[in-house]
Amino acid sequence: MPGSHSNLGPQSQSSWLILVIALVCGTQSKESLSDVEMLSAKPNRCTYARAYDMYGAHCGGLQLTRIPSLKPGIEILDFTENRLRELKADTFSSYSSIRFLYLAENAIFIIDENAFSPLYYLETLDLSRNAIMSVPSGLFQLPSLRNLYMSGNALIYLDRELQSLQRPIKAPLENLDLSDCRIDSLPNLGVLPQLRMYNASQNRLSSLPLARLAETCNLWKMDLSGSIDNIDLCELKPTIVWMDQNRIIFNLDNYARINTYEFGNCPAIVPETINTTYSACKARYIEGRNGRTSRQTWLTICGGLAGFLVGFILILYLMHRSNVAQTKRAIKKKSTTPSNNENYSKEILLNVK
Ligand SMILES: *[C@@H]1O[C@H](CO)[C@@H](O)[C@H](O)[C@H]1NC(C)=O
Ligand SMILES: *[C@@H]1O[C@H](CO)[C@@H](O)[C@H](O)[C@H]1NC(C)=O
Repeated sequence: MPGSHSNLGPQSQSSWLILVIALVCGTQSKESLSDVEMLSAKPNRCTYARAYDMYGAHCGGLQLTRIPSLKPGIEILDFTENRLRELKADTFSSYSSIRFLYLAENAIFIIDENAFSPLYYLETLDLSRNAIMSVPSGLFQLPSLRNLYMSGNALIYLDRELQSLQRPIKAPLENLDLSDCRIDSLPNLGVLPQLRMYNASQNRLSSLPLARLAETCNLWKMDLSGSIDNIDLCELKPTIVWMDQNRIIFNLDNYARINTYEFGNCPAIVPETINTTYSACKARYIEGRNGRTSRQTWLTICGGLAGFLVGFILILYLMHRSNVAQTKRAIKKKSTTPSNNENYSKEILLNVK
């Protein structure tokens, strides 16, 4: 219909106006509502940020029961304070780039044997305050794992799991937190040459064999507060003397027990096997350090070579370019000189004529 537009009467025009106003007001009120929401409620989905030159996902405190689909390539995953119950074999299979994984304060109690296997680059794992009774022994073979925090779990089946552990472990553990884990002895992880900080506090240990300590030949600090009150004094003596001799800082909540006459009178017999254990730990430490330095040396050499090659290729390329340019110039000259020659020969011809 040709006149349909002009047929819009003043009535319908005003209703359009009302609609537009309503729309504008609607969006505005929606906006102010979301502002209020933003101020009052936490975000309900994971956020992404860069920290220490790494890409990380932050999903803390979102009441999530499973790890949602995340952007690939994340190196940090903060999933603390959620409701995760299970770590399945494929939970982390898409996130093998993770280096720092924080899972504290969830409700984790089932961990698949292969849950951590994809995490080749994992350096720090925080499993504190969950309901974990054991961790798969494969965790201790992750080649980059330096910090392991498991405080506040009842690790009552850990010893059983570790029966199949291959020792020495591959993880270069530096910090190990097993505080408040209801263990009655320190787990047998074999030599731990890189270990600096061991937190075994609040555990009510029934023994503290010197052999375990000798396996940690670079230990700097050991927290034993609330853990050794049940151990016989004379059984404790060699370990305490050893820690003292090796300048290991140890925390006890009650030093009165080892300042008694009774403790002083206990014999401090060090079994002969201890030196062997200690030497094995030291040897592995040196081996690891040499490995690292030789890797570094190789990296430097390879880097130097690569740099040299790149420079060499660049020079070749530049030479090639200038050659091409020269040839082109030469060709141009040649293509212009014949015409000169022609003119010249024409001139000669003219002169001859
Ligand atoms: C060891 O763990 C306990 C409990 O988690 C904590 O209070 C304490 O500060 C830790 N010790 C050290 C030396 O970090
Ligand atoms: C063990 O090492 C200590 C100190 O390095 C040494 O005094 C002691 O004689 C050694 N014991 C044995 C049985 O070799």
